[in-house]
Amino acid sequence: MLEVEGLHSFYGEAHVLNGVTLHVAKGEVVALLGRNGMGKTTLIRSVMGLAPPRVREGRVRWQGEDLSGLAAFEIARRGLGYVPQGRRLFPSLTVTEHLTVLKPASVSTGWTVAKAFEFFPRLAERRQHRGNQLSGGERQMLAVARALMTDPALVLMDEPSEGLAPVMVQHLEGIIAQLREAGLGILLVEQNLYSALAVADRAYVLETGRVVHEARAADIAEDPATLTRYLGVH
Ligand SMILES: Nc1ncnc2c1ncn2[C@@H]1O[C@H](COP(=O)(O)OP(=O)(O)OP(=O)(O)O)[C@@H](O)[C@H]1O
Ligand SMILES: [Mg+2]
Repeated sequence: MLEVEGLHSFYGEAHVLNGVTLHVAKGEVVALLGRNGMGKTTLIRSVMGLAPPRVREGRVRWQGEDLSGLAAFEIARRGLGYVPQGRRLFPSLTVTEHLTVLKPASVSTGWTVAKAFEFFPRLAERRQHRGNQLSGGERQMLAVARALMTDPALVLMDEPSEGLAPVMVQHLEGIIAQLREAGLGILLVEQNLYSALAVADRAYVLETGRVVHEARAADIAEDPATLTRYLGVH
């Protein structure tokens, strides 16, 4: 469904992605692993058509279509959802406003505010709270809920569990599993290796802008050499 082929991305002259090739099939959860600064966010932004970075070589294909040259909003409209790193919200908008502001009135999609509140009961309870009145976990839930409102077929999540307590990480894992059951594909950037492997079907390891390892998630979990070599996990 999503095919990234030989992608090279730059910040100015800094060459950050060095020919990344990966794919995500329909309904598949794929983890993108790698230590800090290896290019995970750069890859996600490149796929979403967000600048910077600038893609200078390679292509992103989505359901057979080459996305090169499309604006970020055009890419999002084709069914790609994005949960940015660091849960960017509007401090003065309420939970409900966050979920409605993005949704073009003319588009009727499967995801409604009511459905989002069913999925995230915690947000339903906080519907009148503003962005700056939410806890870290609630902000993360809202960031995921927002990404769903455009009815994506694939969601790219950039470290959704960052800074969350273990119980919230587990809750998020449950949500990812539910989305997968609903048929969504997910490309999941994670620092939390065990959380990623708990929900992913496959994983790629990125190192200095290159894919250096690809495996089924279940195999990586039992592969201490890879864990130590690429991820610094012992
Ligand atoms: N806006 C920018 N301008 C210049 N260099 C950048 C910019 N954003 C990131 N970089 C550099 O590009 C490289 C990859 O950064 P990126 O944010 O993709 O890493 P990451 O794998 O997402 O790391 P983390 O796990 O810390 O989020 C790093 O060396 C970083 O310093
Ligand atoms: Mg990042």
